[in-house]
Amino acid sequence: MKTIILYCSKTGFTRQYAQWLQEELRCDCVPFSERNTVDLSQYQAIAFGSGCYVGKIRKLDWFKKQAQKLRGKRLAVFFTGAMPPDAPDVHRLERENFTPEELRAIKPFYLQGGLNYKQMCLKDKLLMAGFRKMLKAHADSSKEKVMLQNIQHSFDKTSRESLLPLLDYLRQ
Ligand SMILES: Cc1cc2nc3c(=O)[nH]c(=O)nc-3n(C[C@H](O)[C@H](O)[C@H](O)COP(=O)(O)O)c2cc1C
Repeated sequence: MKTIILYCSKTGFTRQYAQWLQEELRCDCVPFSERNTVDLSQYQAIAFGSGCYVGKIRKLDWFKKQAQKLRGKRLAVFFTGAMPPDAPDVHRLERENFTPEELRAIKPFYLQGGLNYKQMCLKDKLLMAGFRKMLKAHADSSKEKVMLQNIQHSFDKTSRESLLPLLDYLRQ
């Protein structure tokens, strides 16, 4: 099956997963900035990867638009974030980013990334500083306190094993 991975990554977590997928599947792998150089209709399986920012999967609208022209193909979205894979927010994020109809055509996969303050643009650093400040002022539950502790510094939770369900789906 001819497969392509298209990915959009600000600080490297989604790129890491895209590169692992390319190694596993020996398929094409193209960054979002080069999206106009590829003809998606030539592929049977297409996976779009992107980071999640303030509850939104970046550039997902672009992929959804392409998906309308790719009926019958195997379509997946892998999205990375800082939250752990068992967080209830993963399902909330899926519900908020996809309609039930979109979910019939596109299968979403959440992959934990991390936080990379060194690679963040100034705007994102400021947003994270605001989020930490807000949590500090209002962190009542132990869950929020743990979250605040976790986001103080950079961390990397990428794991190659977490790609297995997505690999299975793309290989079917
Ligand atoms: C401003 C900002 C907002 C973020 N919002 C979320 C979020 O809503 N949920 C989440 O799980 N992670 C969030 N993250 C963490 C990123 O999703 C995570 O670092 C992701 O793996 C980035 O992928 P990329 O480096 O490939 O773009 C946020 C990070 C930043 C800097």
